Amino acid sequence: MKFRFPIIIIDEDYRSENTSGLGIRALAQAIETEGFEVLGVTSYGDLTQFAQQQSRASAFILSIDDEEFTLGSGLDPIVLSLRKFIEEVRRKNADVPIYVHGETKTSRHLPNDILRELHGFIHMFEDTPEFVAKHIIREAKNYLEGVQPPFFKALLDYAEDGSYSWHCPGHSGGVAFLKSPVGQMYHQFYGENMLRADVCNAVEELGQLLDHNGAIGESERNAARIFNADHCFFVTNGTSTSNKIVWHHTVASGDVVVVDRNCHKSVLHAIIMTGAIPVFLKPTRNHFGIIGPIPQSEFQPETIQAKIAANPLLQGVDAKSVKPRVLTLTQSTYDGVLYNTETIKSMVDGYVENLHFDEAWLPHAAFHPFYGSYHAMGKKRARPKHSVVYATQSIHKLLAGISQASHVLVQDSQTQKLDRHLFNEAYLMHTSTSPQYSIIASCDVAAAMMEPPAGTALVEESLAEALDFRRAMRKVEDEFGKDDWWFTVWGPDDIIEEGLGFAEDWIFRAKAKGKKPSSKWHGFGDLADGFNMLDPIKSTIVTPGLNLNGAFDKTGIPASIVTKYLSAHGVVVEKTGLYSFFIMFTIGITKGRWNTMLTALQQFKDDYEKNQPMYRILPEFCQQHRQYERMGLRDLCQHVHQMYAKYDIARLTTEMYLSDLTPSMKPSDAYAHIAKRQTERVEIDRLEGRTTVGLVTPYPPGIPLLIPGEVFNKKIVDYLLFARDFAKVCPGFETDIHGLVEEEDEAGVVRYYADCVAEAPKVAAARKTPVKAAAKTPAKAAVKAAAKAPAKAAVKTAAKPAAKAPAKAAAKTPAKAPAAKPATKATAKPAAKAPAKAQAANLSEDRTAPAAATPGKGKKKLVQVGSDGPFGRTL
Ligand SMILES: Cc1ncc(COP(=O)(O)O)c(C=O)c1O
Repeated sequence: MKFRFPIIIIDEDYRSENTSGLGIRALAQAIETEGFEVLGVTSYGDLTQFAQQQSRASAFILSIDDEEFTLGSGLDPIVLSLRKFIEEVRRKNADVPIYVHGETKTSRHLPNDILRELHGFIHMFEDTPEFVAKHIIREAKNYLEGVQPPFFKALLDYAEDGSYSWHCPGHSGGVAFLKSPVGQMYHQFYGENMLRADVCNAVEELGQLLDHNGAIGESERNAARIFNADHCFFVTNGTSTSNKIVWHHTVASGDVVVVDRNCHKSVLHAIIMTGAIPVFLKPTRNHFGIIGPIPQSEFQPETIQAKIAANPLLQGVDAKSVKPRVLTLTQSTYDGVLYNTETIKSMVDGYVENLHFDEAWLPHAAFHPFYGSYHAMGKKRARPKHSVVYATQSIHKLLAGISQASHVLVQDSQTQKLDRHLFNEAYLMHTSTSPQYSIIASCDVAAAMMEPPAGTALVEESLAEALDFRRAMRKVEDEFGKDDWWFTVWGPDDIIEEGLGFAEDWIFRAKAKGKKPSSKWHGFGDLADGFNMLDPIKSTIVTPGLNLNGAFDKTGIPASIVTKYLSAHGVVVEKTGLYSFFIMFTIGITKGRWNTMLTALQQFKDDYEKNQPMYRILPEFCQQHRQYERMGLRDLCQHVHQMYAKYDIARLTTEMYLSDLTPSMKPSDAYAHIAKRQTERVEIDRLEGRTTVGLVTPYPPGIPLLIPGEVFNKKIVDYLLFARDFAKVCPGFETDIHGLVEEEDEAGVVRYYADCVAEAPKVAAARKTPVKAAAKTPAKAAVKAAAKAPAKAAVKTAAKPAAKAPAKAAAKTPAKAPAAKPATKATAKPAAKAPAKAQAANLSEDRTAPAAATPGKGKKKLVQVGSDGPFGRTL
């Protein structure tokens, strides 16, 4: 592979017809004859900016002749600009060769701080251009070889080798694509290299991901060093899989685990897969709908013990004797709130065996001192005495990784070393035997890119752009003045005028001398001093209409309308809430990107004020929802805003998320009802008291509300009813609720259901009644209807308008089936009282003991869960 990395010459005489010009051009020609590209520039111009953009240079040659020098002063203009240029290059790149070219000037003319950064001093007429060219090219080649991290280098060598392969993938280096027109298109779109480098694990020289050896193993060790870990394991299926790997290594069925309630669904899936019994740490929330940190007090072992004691699934268990197997924390909440991990480690070291920081959104923090100890693993930080620390990071989210690039970092404790062999058992369980090598290469390259000083410079750029964006937004606001409105960026009131300022400005302070406590801006109430900080590169932009106390203004602009508008203008945001939306300043940020966001918001304001007709503003949206065609933008904002205010949705959502969520059975046991076909599709009006078999997740905010085994409470049901009504009056703005099933009944009415643990008597009846009657039970009816008319059945798993299904198919759907019978509250109760002595298997030797909730004595019989319950055996 021939890379295009030119040697850059900066010489005023590059195009002159004098001896200097002839000399430097002869050198350029000699370099080109050797097959290297040259880029000649005549002006020193803004060298600093030029230096910033030159990550593609393989060497620099800087001329210092024709310049005035005072011997030894170090302050001549040329010395100053040389110094600035070199500093700028070295800020990101310690290795690229830099030569100085002089005809008469020598090293006597340059100060030491410049000389020590140089690879050589060229005196053109003392040697032939060919000789000088060879010397420079040798250094340039060494440099280019040196930047390649282990796996990427091996992959390049392999792709260059031109061997015929007889192994998978069957496209054989892309050749198969060339045999069809559409294949040709695919080939041309992705290019030959991607396909030549798409190899299988039969290629020995690349090493084995599943064994962590060869070039891959070397690359993982390199990444571990860069990220301050003892071990690094590349993962080619995202942090969703990294989380499951960590859990399958640390958690067994019946183990008590401590989990952030605001965690990613992959952690909840891990709870289901491992059969763990979770106790949850409850985060705060403000009325903008922003999920805040978990208060420090929640991490105290005594608080966790109280939660264990209160957990219905752990009744009869001595909470004090439980050692939770893992604590998983979302380190960087979805809105960028971080925890001081040293404080957490000191609080639970030895109490919880494994500390797992889900840093899917925080892989950058290790590379800038701004983040201090507000991330899992840093240089020169003491390791915990007992607890092993895991960090799972999505390389593809904030660093230069391609989709699904992730890794698991592990830090041994002072007394406990990771057993790599055993860890790999879990790793193998979740890793394909045909991993995508481009993803491995991007893990390798992304890690190498973060090696300081480059990594530090990249993070610093993200921080600087993020702060400039905030300043620009405030400038716009100031210019509009107090009587007008503008969007605000959630964060501290005071931001330094220029530069990065101090991390201190972003740390949540209870009270600081002469300063307001941070609670005034974050809205999460009183939090422990210094326990959290906001990552400035995560920006939540707040739209007008709702204040931090949850009160609605007279007029308002729901965020979903703004983000629809932005999207129509080519600006796509990360996540949308009720009156806020979220953007991130990754290392790929450009000034163009955030300035375009700002101008698009200006256009929105302008169109809003002119109440521009919706058919012109969002034509595609109006085609789907004709009722908005004749409205103006402001009218639509007001329509949706008034609906939100009418239902007091901010409060409703906050209360729902903060409400008590009671488990009636172990998540894995509840989930098992799906495989055993012991589920019942219950309409949302009748859900109170019923136990869900799946996750229930409203978008926004996309945080699971219920996990399998938990019981629908009144607040949740009220919310679901609101969401149903709201979908009718504001189609296009409905809350998507993953986990609800949408079906249309015979009358064409859309109904919403959730899949619950079937109530025992019904299941019993179904069991006694052979095929015909059983088919009438809702779950089966649904399956049958779907199987008979898959295309026609109006079963959809999202709260989107259902396709109109023919009455016949609809008649077979559970809408009509007895599923929708009133549920009794009794379901949750007996289970809650169920003795669970055997459940906390990490208290006993027997990890296989059924952790199921068993029916309480004399109570209504519940569905038995676990492998040896009556229904478990029979069905
Ligand atoms: C906190 C958290 N953890 C894990 C994940 C999963 O990461 P991935 O998309 O890399 O699988 C996400 C994804 O958004 C996340 O937000």
